[in-house]
Amino acid sequence: MNISTHVLFSIVFFSFFLSSLHVTSYSKSDSYSFVLNCGSTTAGPDADGRNWVPDSKYLTLSDNSIPAKADFQDPSLPSLVPYMSARIFTSESTYRFSVTPKKRHWVRLHFYPSTYSTLNASDAYFSVVSGDFTLLNNFSASITAQALTQAYIVREFSLTPSDNGYLNITFKPTEKRNGSYAFVNGIEIIPMPDVFEPAILVGFSDQFVDADSSTLQTMYRLNVGGQYIPTKNDSGLTRTWYDDSPYLFGASFGVTSEADKNVKIRYPSDMPKYIAPVDVYSTARTMGPDLKINQNYNLTWVFQVDGNFMYLVRFHFCELQLTKINQRVFDIYLNNQTAQEAADVIAWSGSKAVPVYKDYAIYVSDGAGDDELWVALHPSLSAKPEFYDAILNGMEIFKLNDTSGNLAGPNPVPSQMLLKAESEEARTFTPSKSTSHAHVIGGAAGGAAAFGIVAALCIAIYQRKKRVLGSESGTSGWLPLYGNSHTTASKSTISGKSTASSNVSSMAANLCRHFSLAEIKHGTKNFEESEVIGVGGFGKVYKGVVDGGTKVAIKRSNPSSEQGVHEFQTEIEMLSKLRHRHLVSLIGYCEENEEMILVYDYMAYGTLREHLYKSNKPPLSWKQRLEICIGSARGLHYLHTGAKYTIIHRDVKTTNILLDENWVAKVSDFGLSKTGPNLNQTHVSTVVKGSFGYLDPEYFRRQQLTEKSDVYSFGVVLFEVLCARPALNPSLPKEQVSLGDWALHCQRKGILEDIIDPLLKGKINPECLKKFADTAEKCLSDQGLDRPSMGDVLWNLEFALQLQENPDGAKLVTEGRLNNNSQDFTHDHDMGMHGINLSIGGESAVSEESDGLNTSAVFSQLINPKGR
Ligand SMILES: *[C@@H]1O[C@H](CO)[C@@H](O)[C@H](O)[C@H]1NC(C)=O
Ligand SMILES: *[C@@H]1O[C@H](CO)[C@@H](O)[C@H](O)[C@H]1NC(C)=O
Ligand SMILES: *[C@@H]1O[C@H](CO)[C@@H](O)[C@H](O)[C@H]1NC(C)=O
Ligand SMILES: *[C@@H]1O[C@H](CO)[C@@H](O)[C@H](O)[C@H]1NC(C)=O
Ligand SMILES: *[C@@H]1O[C@H](CO)[C@@H](O)[C@H](O)[C@H]1NC(C)=O
Ligand SMILES: *[C@@H]1O[C@H](CO)[C@@H](O)[C@H](O)[C@H]1NC(C)=O
Ligand SMILES: *[C@@H]1O[C@H](CO)[C@@H](O)[C@H](O)[C@H]1NC(C)=O
Ligand SMILES: *[C@@H]1O[C@H](CO)[C@@H](O)[C@H](O)[C@H]1NC(C)=O
Ligand SMILES: *[C@@H]1O[C@H](CO)[C@@H](O)[C@H](O)[C@H]1NC(C)=O
Ligand SMILES: *[C@@H]1O[C@H](CO)[C@@H](O)[C@H](O)[C@H]1NC(C)=O
Ligand SMILES: *[C@@H]1O[C@H](CO)[C@@H](O)[C@H](O)[C@H]1NC(C)=O
Repeated sequence: MNISTHVLFSIVFFSFFLSSLHVTSYSKSDSYSFVLNCGSTTAGPDADGRNWVPDSKYLTLSDNSIPAKADFQDPSLPSLVPYMSARIFTSESTYRFSVTPKKRHWVRLHFYPSTYSTLNASDAYFSVVSGDFTLLNNFSASITAQALTQAYIVREFSLTPSDNGYLNITFKPTEKRNGSYAFVNGIEIIPMPDVFEPAILVGFSDQFVDADSSTLQTMYRLNVGGQYIPTKNDSGLTRTWYDDSPYLFGASFGVTSEADKNVKIRYPSDMPKYIAPVDVYSTARTMGPDLKINQNYNLTWVFQVDGNFMYLVRFHFCELQLTKINQRVFDIYLNNQTAQEAADVIAWSGSKAVPVYKDYAIYVSDGAGDDELWVALHPSLSAKPEFYDAILNGMEIFKLNDTSGNLAGPNPVPSQMLLKAESEEARTFTPSKSTSHAHVIGGAAGGAAAFGIVAALCIAIYQRKKRVLGSESGTSGWLPLYGNSHTTASKSTISGKSTASSNVSSMAANLCRHFSLAEIKHGTKNFEESEVIGVGGFGKVYKGVVDGGTKVAIKRSNPSSEQGVHEFQTEIEMLSKLRHRHLVSLIGYCEENEEMILVYDYMAYGTLREHLYKSNKPPLSWKQRLEICIGSARGLHYLHTGAKYTIIHRDVKTTNILLDENWVAKVSDFGLSKTGPNLNQTHVSTVVKGSFGYLDPEYFRRQQLTEKSDVYSFGVVLFEVLCARPALNPSLPKEQVSLGDWALHCQRKGILEDIIDPLLKGKINPECLKKFADTAEKCLSDQGLDRPSMGDVLWNLEFALQLQENPDGAKLVTEGRLNNNSQDFTHDHDMGMHGINLSIGGESAVSEESDGLNTSAVFSQLINPKGR
């Protein structure tokens, strides 16, 4: 595109941009936008306040379509509009829109696969055609949603201009199946400027791919190193941008950076603002401060794509720190081929804080395994730059139609593990079968949790808004809704190494790295005993080094531990999706020769416990302890509420709270984690697992697991931090053995000060101590219902920190977020049950937390109510 057309489009677009700025909700008077709430007779706003209008007047033949309402509202839908109403087509039907000729349009189709009156979502197979282009074919929204674990699917296309001023969209049920139907919940038709330009075909420096005559499908749109950007914060094209971290591959994620407050992003005169919003350019991911390590690795993202299509990859750059040419120069690889040598953002843009974008095209053939698009950045050694580093601010990946005008790929295949977990879950959660209370769910359910998270991340916008405590630092991952991936459960092609027997879904496998046993052995000096940094029920944890310098923690399962297999897979599937500042990141795994090895971020300062007592480490200050408690509360709060399924940790304790080199607390060990209730169930029945001293008495009694069980355990952690003694110490007099009970007793008697860590005496502001102890006490309430939520705990701890730091200022803040449950704590629970449950829960219940003491001693303490 030359400059004059740029200017033309800028002018055309500028007016559109202005109008969309001033008209906050899209009204009918904006003839350029059609935002349809299909199957509904009334208009209504979505979560972003956009107005969706009825669709019937755009249907050319409306007698073979039925308006319908979804029977069930998935809790993760961002809003009722447009998802709860649908238009059902039993035969071919067409929407027709009168549009400006010679203009491209975004077409966004929204699908919520659900039961509509008597129609089963899994019967819907259909195609969607517009003009000469097939957008979807044999499309099953239900299978796709299941494989991607999303409640709803959005597909975005950029349609070539129509010649005659009509844009038609035809829905057609697949004929090959009896009872097949088509449906759609929402349609958006948005005029767009021509944002596509001829792109260099990777591998052919002299060939260009011109998207001009092609229709494109948006596969991924990422705000690299930044946060989710909702439609209303886009620069006028109502696009959605997602966090890139879920797609990062390997051990090194680089570092994210943000423009200084006083740095103003300046768009060059030939670059319209609609290309990407300021938010995209003002955040970036770079490789990291260690220039040596940077030379030894590639900053890599991996994307699932459909084979046999041409892809257009657009990189958005904006240098935020450096100002000179040849300071940061790097190579860009697409599928291991060099797309760009010696990329130098300043050389392109001319200055710091000036954005620039580059397009590359690459053909992805249909290989034997899953089809992937690898994007990698590496410092350019040949250019000898001042800093060996790379930078990226944003990335978009579009699929171009093939020569027959087709854009449709096959339906993705849900992972076997996921299907199994879902059917288990359906069985357990079917209300009519509530008699099967004590049904034991296998570890596979964790897989569902992992996938649930992906879904939840996509849709948590709404929930996040509702949350009073929106204090998350924005590090949670966001996945695009249009990850049109073709995943299979049975094979994994990462690194081409033998993982044939692995049941780890390839989706999970793609999000983390597969290590060979040789790499692991090399990294741990062949499992040298001196490298052991921890021992757990699962096996040993080694310190190791991979990728020529990245420190990692390597958890090697004990081959004899039977339950390890489930937990191994649960942990991979769950953790590979979970990236949060206060959760330990899984980097990769190794499954070879019956070895099950997990590779994590290395936590330089080890466990919280070793900084509290029984070690010769320097003691932590009260403020440090508070900050660690706040961090871990945040991690747990994220597990409980950041997802479609509540994730219950089940084994919260001070040895599962780790500290990195900056004393940032990270919650670890999800091997025992489990999905929490969805639908209307308020608990999960399961066998008792966890560690003595931290176990929720209610959980013990009724075998019902809720997120409040974690809150209980966290209450014990809070007292442990305050008192610097183990949760169970059998060498003490009976009434003091259990910290939870003893601290509660002292707190109620007003003598808590007597048992706090002597090193803290006089260092805690009394107001702060009161708040902290009250919070811990509430966490230990006998009934789950009386315990605060993790969000409330977090709020109260933050408040306690304010009281410590600034006792006067904090008083101005209104308090009172804890439930007012002043009723007396009763010790009437049926301790006799413990023995029974334990014999069901069995051997796994005891973990290293029993602190070397004789299990039967603990046991008798526990089953003796007086002992507590
Ligand atoms: C829908 O059909 C699938 C497969 O035929 C079946 O397993 C499922 O139970 C059905 N769902 C409903 C709600 O009828
Ligand atoms: C859309 O449909 C109208 C009438 O049904 C037809 O005249 C027009 O050519 C169609 N447009 C396209 C792009 O197929
Ligand atoms: C569809 O229905 C027709 C008539 O009822 C029947 O002959 C045919 O076998 C069915 N096809 C399938 C795939 O079930
Ligand atoms: C969207 O923009 C509004 C107003 O500029 C801002 O307050 C909000 O934080 C933005 N949201 C996100 C997710 O960037
Ligand atoms: C980075 O990726 C390129 C292309 O795949 C590869 O040739 C190179 O060896 C990689 N470098 C490192 C350090 O992994
Ligand atoms: C997309 O389809 C159009 C029209 O059929 C065709 O001209 C164009 O070459 C196709 N694009 C690609 C990349 O094949
Ligand atoms: C349609 O999709 C289903 C589910 O992915 C698949 O089993 C079937 O083979 C597909 N049919 C055609 C004709 O492609
Ligand atoms: C790129 O190279 C990596 C390792 O060097 C390999 O695992 C991956 O499969 C390659 N990707 C493609 C698309 O060839
Ligand atoms: C993978 O799953 C299949 C079927 O569920 C099972 O037979 C096989 O043993 C599993 N393999 C591993 C390594 O767990
Ligand atoms: C959940 O419970 C609420 C209130 O008890 C009820 O209105 C709703 O229909 C229930 N939903 C399901 C899916 O059972
Ligand atoms: C809490 O409840 C008690 C008794 O029900 C009442 O006396 C007290 O005022 C309440 N406190 C608050 C803060 O509501």
